[in-house]
Amino acid sequence: MDWWRGAVIYQIYPRSFLDTDGDGIGDLPGVTAKLPYIAQLGADAIWLCPFFLSPQCDFGYDVASYTDIDPIFGTMADFDALVRQAHALGLKVLIDQVWGHTSNRHPWFLDSRSSQTAEKADWYVWADPSADGTPPNNWLSVFGGAAWTWEPRRRQYFLHRFLSCQPALNLHNPATMDALLETGRFWLDRGVDGFRLDAIDFLLHDTSLRPNPAAPGTGIIPTKPFGMQRHDWDMLQPDTVGLLARIRGLMDSYPGSVALGEISSQPGALQRVTALTEGADGLHMAYTLRPLRDRFGWAEVTALLRDVALAGTKGWACWSFSNHDAERAISRWNPAGGSAPPDPAFVRMLMALPLSLRGSVCLYQGEELGLTEAVLSETDLRDPFGLAYWPEFRGRDGSRTPMPWRADAAHAGFTSAATPWLPMPDVHRALAADVQDADDSSMLHAVRRFLHWRRGVPALLYGSLRTLPLDAPLAGFAREHDGQCVIAVFNLSDADATLSLAGYGPLSPMPGSGFEHCLGGDGRLRPFGVLFAIVAHKPACLKEMAG
Ligand code: BGC
Repeated sequence: MDWWRGAVIYQIYPRSFLDTDGDGIGDLPGVTAKLPYIAQLGADAIWLCPFFLSPQCDFGYDVASYTDIDPIFGTMADFDALVRQAHALGLKVLIDQVWGHTSNRHPWFLDSRSSQTAEKADWYVWADPSADGTPPNNWLSVFGGAAWTWEPRRRQYFLHRFLSCQPALNLHNPATMDALLETGRFWLDRGVDGFRLDAIDFLLHDTSLRPNPAAPGTGIIPTKPFGMQRHDWDMLQPDTVGLLARIRGLMDSYPGSVALGEISSQPGALQRVTALTEGADGLHMAYTLRPLRDRFGWAEVTALLRDVALAGTKGWACWSFSNHDAERAISRWNPAGGSAPPDPAFVRMLMALPLSLRGSVCLYQGEELGLTEAVLSETDLRDPFGLAYWPEFRGRDGSRTPMPWRADAAHAGFTSAATPWLPMPDVHRALAADVQDADDSSMLHAVRRFLHWRRGVPALLYGSLRTLPLDAPLAGFAREHDGQCVIAVFNLSDADATLSLAGYGPLSPMPGSGFEHCLGGDGRLRPFGVLFAIVAHKPACLKEMAG
């Protein structure tokens, strides 16, 4: 079986993981120091967010050299040591590759902007102004304002999907893609096991620069005008599959390496995850932040399960509900409200749900500690996206605050600097890894127990998924692989719920998951309880349970 199917990929945002040189910013030696912690957790791989040379205008997603390490993160020797240590611990290493745009300091862009006849003139997306001097069309940047910035040297505009310091590469030009694939080869040769590929839906644009139509109006003007367009022409171009095939070709020449793509939240996100990961020419797996983005209720969870079941055995999703771009799911979905302390049973259920779906999982640093979204003041903000839309949208800093390692240390052991790049929230200090490590009933232990148990349940790692016809507040499904059938049922409410699974034979909770106690002797599932049970009666597993 491919190592990445059903794998748990621990996502590391290096700036905020562990600082070993006292500059207030996490670094690669900090990651290496904590690899045993990640291996002990039961992860199979790590995904490292960008650590490449960068002016850091989007915190590393603005790359000035694809094959150099930014000194704030360390050296190439530090990186090699990290990979060696990870492999020694049995962890695979995925690194971020940002191939849709570079920094405006990248030598390719410096050349490209110098003149319309420069060697790399066509490596970025350039366009003449409209007759009245305004940008060539109505395309908008995700982070605010027009997607075009004027370049006086060329008397032209260049395209940028995010910040103006992130000019979009022209991937319609095969030479540009050739050069990117070469940089990918550089890292594969250094021993990495794969890539997380940034912003797949933005890789290509319509070369005739057709204007986007307005999105069907709701009558309400949203915080971010990007949402007011239907993105027919600036992104989501069907030719993307050709680029992905080239990337897959590279990966296939390094057997065992894997490409994990990021899919945008534009309509049809989950369907794109499936479409772009089926077949031997696409991505191996992909994630999108779209599902359950706004609400975690019975209707939303049930709809998601239905979509997963509908995809059948096509494609391979990677579930990511918290990451460096999103408000932490615990706070986003907390039924008691974002600022109330979440019910520990709810937090555990949120961990178990994605880890039981068909697919792989990205676990974002701190999820294993049950970290909530940090509430920051305006003066603490660093994320340009948040600064542009504050206070209506608070940006991404709340999920990027430093990891709390030691409750009684300054800045909870993240840094010896007087001031970390983002503050250590007081509520996170109490959840520090050392405190939880010493407490067998902690979330950290629950995650460890669950991940190690899950490794021994092939149906949960690789199995097909069929939904169970359950009424609110219960949601659940059956997973089946190689004769093993496991059902997983989740009580999405804070009250006991009656479980009736007539027709499946006697159900006994599987031992070892840490959720055994959730099923009461009276057959009721405890508040936010989870049931994992083996179905011995095979026809029951194979029958269409969705009714
Ligand atoms: C990354 C973001 C980044 C953006 C632009 C994304 O999808 O995950 O953190 O700001 O791409 O590179």
